[in-house]
Amino acid sequence: MQERTLAIIKPDSMQKNLQGKIIDHLLAKEFKIIGMKMLRLTKRTAEEFYAVHKGRPFYDELVEFMTESAVVVLALQKKNAVAELRKVIGATDPAEAEEGTIRKLYAESKGRNAIHASDSVENAEVELSFFFTEKELLENGLMD
Ligand code: RTP
Ligand code: MG
Repeated sequence: MQERTLAIIKPDSMQKNLQGKIIDHLLAKEFKIIGMKMLRLTKRTAEEFYAVHKGRPFYDELVEFMTESAVVVLALQKKNAVAELRKVIGATDPAEAEEGTIRKLYAESKGRNAIHASDSVENAEVELSFFFTEKELLENGLMD
């Protein structure tokens, strides 16, 4: 089934000018871009976005990191997009990520790990609406 999901190209990737390579990787894996924005998260927005991790030892560091510089937020569409994107990005810790995954290729560490992806269909919809209005999302992507 066609699904939508959300990716964020994180500040570490932006600082190394990897946004093009990462977008290219996603397009090569046949994700359709149905929304794209570049923005800088405020502390409050980053805290709210990662609220599920509040209280974890890495939370403050995560919020600090996500607000370091701009990010690119991508709304992506594909068959089984949520699971497919998790596969393409690889494990949270690049040391454990499979060869050829975005995190294996580009992440620095478990904290500074190049890209975010929604972890369930339900969360994907919540996260998409965090950054995009329904009007801003295309029906079928840019390649049709
Ligand atoms: P994400 O939400 O960003 O796609 O990453 P994920 O599902 O693979 O990992 P999650 O457990 O949701 O953690 C969210 C982000 O917090 C940072 N983190 N640092 N130093 C640490 O032990 C640690 N653990 C998590 C990472 O940036 C991770 O992606
Ligand atoms: Mg997560």
